[in-house]
Amino acid sequence: MINIAVLGYGTVGSGVVEVINKNHASINKKAGDEINIKYVLDLRDFPGDPVEKVLVHDFEVIINDPEVDIIVEVMGGVNPAYTFSKRALEAGKSVCTSNKELVAQHGTELLEIAKSKDINYLFEASCGGGIPIIRPLNSSLTADEIDEVTGILNGTTNYILTKMALEGSDFDDVLKDAQQKGYAERNPEADVEGYDACRKIAILSSLAYGSHIDYKDVYTEGITKISATDIKYAKHLGTSIKLLATSKKIEDGFYAMVCPVMINERNPLYSVNDVFNAIFVHGNVLGDAMFYGSGAGKLPTASAVVADVVDCAKHLHRNIMMNWSSQPLELMPVDHVKNRFFVRVKGSLTGDIGDVENVFGEVETVSLPDAPDEFAFITQEMCEADFAEKAEKLGTVISRIRAWI
Ligand code: HSE
Repeated sequence: MINIAVLGYGTVGSGVVEVINKNHASINKKAGDEINIKYVLDLRDFPGDPVEKVLVHDFEVIINDPEVDIIVEVMGGVNPAYTFSKRALEAGKSVCTSNKELVAQHGTELLEIAKSKDINYLFEASCGGGIPIIRPLNSSLTADEIDEVTGILNGTTNYILTKMALEGSDFDDVLKDAQQKGYAERNPEADVEGYDACRKIAILSSLAYGSHIDYKDVYTEGITKISATDIKYAKHLGTSIKLLATSKKIEDGFYAMVCPVMINERNPLYSVNDVFNAIFVHGNVLGDAMFYGSGAGKLPTASAVVADVVDCAKHLHRNIMMNWSSQPLELMPVDHVKNRFFVRVKGSLTGDIGDVENVFGEVETVSLPDAPDEFAFITQEMCEADFAEKAEKLGTVISRIRAWI
C-alpha cells in the first residue's frame, strides 16, 4: 500500500479524493500498488463528509508520519505551500501539485531537492489543467529541439473573449456574468491581467528549452482593454482575438510574451473556445503538434494530479529526470520581436489615410459603419520598437492588437 496525503480540500483537493475513489481499481492497477489516502489537511472541518475520517489540521502529523510516501499539494498560493512542499521533499516524500504560482516561482529549487533525494516533484496539472503537456514535453518530444510553444493557457479569459465575440458585449459585462457563473474569481486580476498565463508559459518554456525562465521576465498584457468595438473589427476581418502565451526561438535567442492576438482560421488555436485550453508546440524534427482539452476545473485538474500520483508510485525511490536546469535562460527584449499590428486610429478613412501611409507605408484598411469617428489598419510586419515609434509619431492611435494574420 502507498499512503498519500492531500494538502488542501478545496476544489482540486476534493477532486483528487473523488477521482481516487471513483477509479480506485484501475488507478491501483496502473500504479502497481494500492493508493491509500491516509490524510487530508485543511484548516476547515467538513461535518458529514466522508473525508472527516482522514482529516487533520496539523501538517506536522503528515510530515512526521514515515508511512506517507507521496504528498499532493493543492493548496494554491506560494505560502505555506512552498514551506510544506520543501519540507516534504527534504523528508523524502514525493510531491505532486497543481500550483502554478509555486512551480513558476520555486520550481527549480524544488526539482533539485527532489533529484538529490531520488524522489519526484511533479506538476502536470499546473499548466493546461487536464491536458497532458508537461509529460509530453519532458518525455515524448525529447528527440526534438523545440523552437516554439504557443498556447491558450487560461480558461477564464478564453471564456470571456469567446462570450464577447458571441454576444458583442463589453469586457466588464462578460466578466460580471463569468463571475456569477463561477468561471471567474471574485478577484479576477491574475486571469484577466495575464499573470496566470505568464506563469504557465514560463513553466512550459523552461521545460521545452531546458533552462529556467523567470516568469517576471515574460512581457505580459491582459485582456482588460479589449472592447466590443475591437471584437467587431476582428469579426469583420474574419479573425478572433485570443489571449496567447507564446515563447519562440528567433535567430540565436528566445523571447516570451503574453498578450491578446488577432488570429485567423488558418491558425490551429482559432477554434479553441470557451474554457478550453490548447498548446501548440513546434519541434525541429516533429514539426507541429497541438494538445487540446479541458484546461481548468475540478475533475480535469484532479485527473492530471492523480496521474502524477500514479507516476510517483511507479517511481517511488527513483527520480524522473526533468529537462529543466536551474541555469537561467535570458530572454531577449520584446522590442526586437516582429509582428503585424491591427491599429485603430481617430479620424476618417478618406481624410486621414494619407497620414497613416506616410508613417506606416503600405497598410490594409478597415472601417465599421457604426464607428464613424475612427478607422483601422493592419501594418506590415515590423518590430515592437518600430511600431511604438511610428504610433507615437502618428499621434492618433486609439489602440493596437498584435495580428498574426
Ligand atoms: N484560473 C485558471 C484558468 C485556472 O482560468 O485557466 C486553471 O489554472
